[in-house]
Order: sequence, then C-alpha cells, then structure tokens
Amino acid sequence: MLNDPSSLPSYLASRRSSRPRDLVAPGPDATQLDAILTIAARTPDHGKLAPWRFVVVASDRRDAFAAMLTAAYRGEKPNAGRVEIDAVDAFAHQAPCLVVVLSTPDTASRIPLWEQQLSCGAAAMNLIHGAHAHGFAAGWVTGWASFNAAVAASLGAGPDDRIAGFVFIGSPGESPAERIRPALADVVSHWSPRP
Ligand SMILES: Cc1cc2nc3c(=O)[nH]c(=O)nc-3n(C[C@H](O)[C@H](O)[C@H](O)COP(=O)(O)O)c2cc1C
Repeated sequence: MLNDPSSLPSYLASRRSSRPRDLVAPGPDATQLDAILTIAARTPDHGKLAPWRFVVVASDRRDAFAAMLTAAYRGEKPNAGRVEIDAVDAFAHQAPCLVVVLSTPDTASRIPLWEQQLSCGAAAMNLIHGAHAHGFAAGWVTGWASFNAAVAASLGAGPDDRIAGFVFIGSPGESPAERIRPALADVVSHWSPRP
C-alpha cells in the first residue's frame, strides 16, 4: 500500500505486498489498469525485446478461468477432493483484478535467456509499483498453477514461455503487517581484489 504517494523514498521504504485473498473492491477500472500496465511495460529490457506479456483475466471471465484451473488441477491430481477444488476455485476468484505475467523470451535472440527472464521479473515488480502508484495494493503469487502446462497453454504461452506469476490487484482489506527484512550485512558486501 502506498503510504505517502508524494514521497517516493518513503513509499519504497515502506511498500508491502498484500495477500491476494485480502484484496477487496474497488480494483482498477479499465483506464487505471491501462496506466498501471503502461508502468509495468516501462522496464529495463536488454535488446528491446519486451520478453514478457501481461494477460488480464477480466472479472466476467473469472468463472471460466476457475473452470480452466480446476480442470488443470484435476489433470495433475485426478483424486483431488472437494477441499482442494474449492481452494483452486477460491484462488481464481480472489481480488478484483488479476494480471498473469508471462516470461516470453526470444530464444533466437543474442540476448541471453537469463537476462530476458530477469527483465520479466522486473516487469512484474513494476506492475506492483504501478498498482500502488495508482492507489491500489497488489500481491504476486505462483504455486502449482505457474508450473502447469495446461494453464500455461490456456494463457497463450508458447514452448519457451513461463508463467512468472499471478498478480492480484485491489484495495487492501486490511493493512499488511510488516515482515522481517534481511539485514543489510547479510546481503551487501563491498568488493575488494582477491589476493
Ligand atoms: C516469483 C515469486 C513468487 C511468489 N509466490 C508466492 C506464493 O505463491 N505465495 C506467497 O504467499 N507468496 C509468494 N511470493 C511472495 C510475495 O509475493 C511477496 O514477495 C511477499 O509477500 C513479500 O512481499 P513484499 O516484500 O512486497 O511485502 C512470491 C514472490 C515471488 C517473487
């Protein structure tokens, strides 16, 4: 949630993702979503390949999306019980807005695959920043569906494409509590020449 939209450092220092199931209406309208996606597409990208795609699952397609996910889940787990199927259905219906981020690398390009996939992760992060900048909250999740071939195919993914995540956007039902962050000393070092 954007605590102080007028202060970028304050926002970046306090930004938190929300749990998708905690996101409530309103979500972005069509104009706001276009603006959010425009921010997401403004992402570092070696070679100008735009090796990512955003698949919007509109509200009136959530039931069909849930049916597709459920069928894919049953394909993986033919003996799935009611509780599991209900959880899949709930996943598909949570939050007012859902954008699936696909990594769509150009494998014929001279740009390494790794760099193209890094750009996709950056695009997903920018999607979250865009949502926050427009006054919404967001959460990036993956799970079994991100690795399921039938789900990927239904999203239009090609053989080299991968689901980077499901980004749910809406208004925060409750403010997310802070979580532990890594100590800088654990993640930052200062280079020196090796003997
Ligand atoms: C690629 C990726 C996949 C993720 N998948 C999940 C997930 O399936 N379930 C989950 O609870 N959090 C998942 N997370 C973590 C949350 O999106 C988020 O990073 C975490 O809640 C802390 O977010 P914050 O630092 O923005 O507050 C994933 C994060 C990334 C980068």
